[in-house]
This record gives sequence, C-alpha cells and structure tokens, in this order.
Amino acid sequence: MTSHIMPTYGRLPVTFEKGEGVWLWDENNNRYLDALSGIAVCNLGHTHPAIHKAICKQSGALLHTSNLYGIANQERLAAELAEKSGMDNVFFCNSGAEANEAAIKLARMYGHGLGTDKPAIIVMEKSFHGRTLATLSATGNAKVQQGFAPLVEGFIRVPYNDVNAIEQALEQHKNIVAVLVEPIQGEGGVNIPGKDYLNQIRSLCDQHQLLMMLDEIQTGIGRTGKFLAFQHNHIIPDVCTLAKALGNGVPIGACLAHGQAAKLFTAGNHGSTFGGNPLACNAALAVLETLEQENLINLAEQKGNAICAGFIEGLRGNEHIVDIRHKGLMIGIELDSPCAELVKSALQQGLLINVTNEKTIRLLPPLIINNQEIDQLVTTLTALIQEYTDQPHAKQTYESQTFYKPA
Ligand SMILES: Cc1ncc(COP(=O)(O)O)c(C=O)c1O
Repeated sequence: MTSHIMPTYGRLPVTFEKGEGVWLWDENNNRYLDALSGIAVCNLGHTHPAIHKAICKQSGALLHTSNLYGIANQERLAAELAEKSGMDNVFFCNSGAEANEAAIKLARMYGHGLGTDKPAIIVMEKSFHGRTLATLSATGNAKVQQGFAPLVEGFIRVPYNDVNAIEQALEQHKNIVAVLVEPIQGEGGVNIPGKDYLNQIRSLCDQHQLLMMLDEIQTGIGRTGKFLAFQHNHIIPDVCTLAKALGNGVPIGACLAHGQAAKLFTAGNHGSTFGGNPLACNAALAVLETLEQENLINLAEQKGNAICAGFIEGLRGNEHIVDIRHKGLMIGIELDSPCAELVKSALQQGLLINVTNEKTIRLLPPLIINNQEIDQLVTTLTALIQEYTDQPHAKQTYESQTFYKPA
C-alpha cells in the first residue's frame, strides 16, 4: 500500500493498537515491553488511569479558548512547575523544539538588552535540541543539519563536558550571552558529564553575565531520579526547557525562566495558539500529582540501579561491552561496535529499545516499571546482547538514533 506520509522516519515494521503500563500490543495482539516510553514521554506508562481521567474530564468541560484570555489550568500548572523547580515563570508551547526556540529568543533578547549586536549562544558537540531551523542549528549533529543551509547564525560549538573549552570560547568571542546544554545528552549517546560540570557552568555564567540554559526535555520530569536533573547539582539555571514527559503523551512544552531571564518577554514578544491550553495543562497537572502520589521520582534511582546491576552481572566478562551507565532511569549500554541491528532483534523478542550514537543501547523505561518487568527486561536484553556479540556480524554503518534514514 502506498503511504501518504512524508518518509522522514525509517519506521520499524510494527503498529501498536493499545497499551497499558509498560506494555504495548500490536495489531496481531502480540505483546511488547516498552523500555523506551515513546522516547522519554510516557514516564507513567501507557493509559495511566489518572491521565485518562484528567483528559476525559477536561474535554467534557473546555478544550480550548485562547491565550487572549485567562486559562486557569495554565496558571495552576505554571505555579506547580515554579514551586517544584525554583524557577519564576513559564511560557507554554507544544513541543521540545518550540520550548528551545523560546529559550533562544530569550537569550537574544537578553543579549540585545546588554547592548550586544549579534548575540551568540554556546552549544555542545553531539547535542540535540530539535528540528526547527534555530534548534537544528543549535544541534551538534551534521546529519540533522544536512540540506538545510543557510543555518541560523549565532551558535558557537564546543565539546561536551569540557569547561575549559567554554572558557576558551569566552576569551575568543566577546558576543556570547548564553550557554545551552543538556544535563545528560540523550540523542548524543546517553553522555553523563562530570559531577560538577553544571556547577562549573553556573559559576562561569555568573562570572560572565551569561544565561545558563538547560535543555531538560529528555532528562526532566523525574527521569534521572530528581524532578529536574539540575537538582542533583543544587543550582538554579536562568532558563530550563521541558516537553516530552510533561504531558505523558499529550503534547506540551514549557520554557521556564528565573531571575532576570523571567523579566525579558513582554506582551507581543512571543506566542502560541495552542500553547498551554486547558486540555494539555490538565494532563500535565495530573502527571505532576501522580509522580508524587506514587513516589515515582524517588524510586527511579533505585530502579535504575537494579536494572544496571542486572546488566553488569549478566554481561560480566563480555569484552564487547565498553560501558554501562545511568542516572536514574536514563540508561546507556555502550558496545565496541555499531549495534543498530539489536533494535530489530529486540522487537522480534517483544522488547522496545533504541540505539543512539551508533554503539549505545539506550533504555528509557517508564518510571512505573515493577521488579518483575525489570527482570524480564534485563534477562531478555542480556541474552540478545550476548548472542549479538558472540556472532561475527555485519557492521552497521548508519546512525540508528530515532531511526533517521541513512543520508
Ligand atoms: C534534549 C532534547 N531536546 C529537544 C528535543 C526536541 O523535542 P521535540 O521532538 O518535542 O521537538 C528532544 C527530542 O528528542 C530532546 O531529546
């Protein structure tokens, strides 16, 4: 059958019809353990009753008005996010890329306020910030940018987890006004920086009057064992972006600001028709309430430890394993050669995983995963990895992350 969908994704040969908890069922009623959560979206699993209820209730009351009017759920959600994060205010939108667009606009406005004509933002190698023109320009992946020149200017790229490189860039360029960075790089290969990396960036930003802008789109909403990953470092950024798990599947993005960054936008500077509508905000309010009621954020660290301990035990002695790393339930298993093929063999075994940066198996299981499901995930994937690394296999040459087609 001819598909009328633009082929922007190289999709796997499966279509899901229903879900519950960590489980998904395809058209033929085969069951799959979802260890990816729709790429860090369904942190509460599929069809969580609290989210179902919040959506149904709101759709029976009011779906949409406009940001020209007051929106009670939006006010409540902004207040909750401010309380949980220590940030001051929020701009709501519909996706991660849009949240980062708002952050980039804030940085530019901040720079112009300082009298900088051509404000520039430091961004990282291997970063991922989205697919709009500005966010793909900020992204550190040539494949994502290929074919879209001229890119948006005003980004200066340095290696991730390298504070000296930021210092050098600050010496070379006098127009830098902000640093945009992921607390852990997700698409770039589950790259966990040094413990003090964010603290050092915070100090540099204070010293040089820069906005510290954190992209928490993948790391946020409990994924790493704190509500937001920067809370491991006891700092407050100037700007922080969220999306993905904030609505557990209902599209919503948010750009949070603190201090002077919270005073930059005034009426007419930015906007979104759908951003922060009553439905999306009610879903997000239910997400925040459920995370707390079920103590899911505190348990994420424990569950991540259990999963990684299982892999360390099961894969002991396998010389093809380069590293097993995690923060909470953001998990990477790095192999010594490309392993995109594993995504397909896992699918055949009823397990959904992902591979980023060619060689790193990425797991982002729902925070509601239980001990039995953890055992099943570890047992199935350990066996698959052992089988894969035992065989001489064809080397994969393309990047499999989120299944973008080879260029
Ligand atoms: C860190 C990060 N930033 C931004 C984005 C873009 O989000 P969206 O696809 O909702 O635009 C993603 C998506 O994978 C992400 O992981």
